[in-house]
Amino acid sequence: MNTFDTIRAIRWQDDNLVLIDQRCLPLREETIVCTQVADAIEAIRDMVVRGAPAIGITSAFAVVLAVRERYRQYGDQWQQHIEDDLQRLSEARPTAVNLGWAIAEMRQQFANLGAGDPVPQLLQHAQLIHQQDIDANQTMGRLGSALIDSGTHVLTHCNTGSLATGGYGTALGVIRSAYQAGRIEGVYADETRPWLQGSRLTAWELVQDRIPVSLIADSAAAYLMRQGQISWVIVGADRIAANGDVANKIGTYSTAISARYHQVKFMVVAPTTTVDMSIAQGAHIPIETRSATELLECNHQRFAAEGSSAWNPVFDVTPAELIDAIVTEKGVVMQPDSVKIAQMMSS
Ligand code: MRU
Repeated sequence: MNTFDTIRAIRWQDDNLVLIDQRCLPLREETIVCTQVADAIEAIRDMVVRGAPAIGITSAFAVVLAVRERYRQYGDQWQQHIEDDLQRLSEARPTAVNLGWAIAEMRQQFANLGAGDPVPQLLQHAQLIHQQDIDANQTMGRLGSALIDSGTHVLTHCNTGSLATGGYGTALGVIRSAYQAGRIEGVYADETRPWLQGSRLTAWELVQDRIPVSLIADSAAAYLMRQGQISWVIVGADRIAANGDVANKIGTYSTAISARYHQVKFMVVAPTTTVDMSIAQGAHIPIETRSATELLECNHQRFAAEGSSAWNPVFDVTPAELIDAIVTEKGVVMQPDSVKIAQMMSS
């Protein structure tokens, strides 16, 4: 690992899946151990692990856990008893397409298994998916960094770093790479309400890796742009539709509108595992709505007025026309549209 890349949120250790518990950061650095597929499903649903690529990698290892359980129970008949596990896993969170992608990848391996214990071969494939994600992030880091003129600051939203991926990060990978190359001087991070991925996770990662970071309230972004403080907004994605519309953390859309108004460039960084060519446009992407308590409470204590309810969609869709560049490991698509996305995916 290089100087600006020291964190890994997911690892396979002593025959189990070990995850950094992101709910505890930055106050405590704790891990949880998943020994069964049910543990991994709960970890994804409860946001122990979050971020689209990290959810995908976790689900690849979760498939290994499921197969191990069913092989112990049913021996060579395990494939006849695995579907309920895979179904429950695929429903853990709806928006990040990487979840379904990773399950499909692992399922494809089922057909190629030799006789005997399927676990070693499937584990090897899950580890390959993990490594390929890190490799893709490093490639995207280089490609995205090259778009940034020197001596500037950038704004990012949510957490797209090592915690949200196999390692290095998507948008945060570009930021790591650009900082290392001397292209950016520092980072503004939206605190990212209500779950505070920005202030709890992005700020923690950047501090760990000694990259200067200033937090802003999400609602300060337009004013920051007005001051001429940033040249790019750089974000990740949970799902990219075939026409280049991007679902990402709630607040991304309003940031993109502000960026266009202030002539600040807007970059989306995501591996091709986040592109869903089966969905023609963003309006068809399923958007997760989470519990109202995430808005009404803080640290399990109610602070919103008694009697009020809350609506808590946790993603939104930014139309392709507001995006200047989509960076994947296959290349950079400027001013994305259906034709350019299709060309990039088939390259
Ligand atoms: O609800 P979360 O924390 O899983 O949402 C994460 C995001 O929206 C990220 O921006 C996205 O998954 C890209 S992470 C590389």
